[in-house]
Amino acid sequence: MKILIINGPNLNMLGTREKKIYGERTLADMNAEIAEWCAERGIDTVFFQSNIEGEIVCAVQDAVRRFGADGIVLNAGAYTHYSRAIGDALPCVDIPKVEVHISNVHAREDFRHVSVLADNCNGVICGFGADSYKLACLAIKGILDRSGA
Ligand code: DQA
Repeated sequence: MKILIINGPNLNMLGTREKKIYGERTLADMNAEIAEWCAERGIDTVFFQSNIEGEIVCAVQDAVRRFGADGIVLNAGAYTHYSRAIGDALPCVDIPKVEVHISNVHAREDFRHVSVLADNCNGVICGFGADSYKLACLAIKGILDRSGA
């Protein structure tokens, strides 16, 4: 079982970006922790990051073909709140998808309370830092295990 973990714009700046909100760790640190945690539970991970909306659309479209993924964990950053293009890409791939956020978007500015991706995901997890991704992987594993995939 392999899960594609997609990070969107400005998440490559973790470690220096707004540390009070996003913590001290870099994206590489966080990905390594998630990969190790998932491996211990029999989940392979593959990571993709882009600041570019169209590249995220392509990564979603190609989740199965290019990345060999059985599920997608998506932190689309600010695109979460307005990208209809990423939202439209999600139903193009028939695998479980979970929207995640490092911060609790509901405790922040109003514009972050809206997601145009959530309705095309199996669920949403936010506010738990790197653990948001781990919980999302666990949720996808549960869906796949139950479906016999
Ligand atoms: C974020 C929350 C978004 O509102 C923000 O634009 C981000 C990061 C998070 O992980 O908390 O870039 O997705």
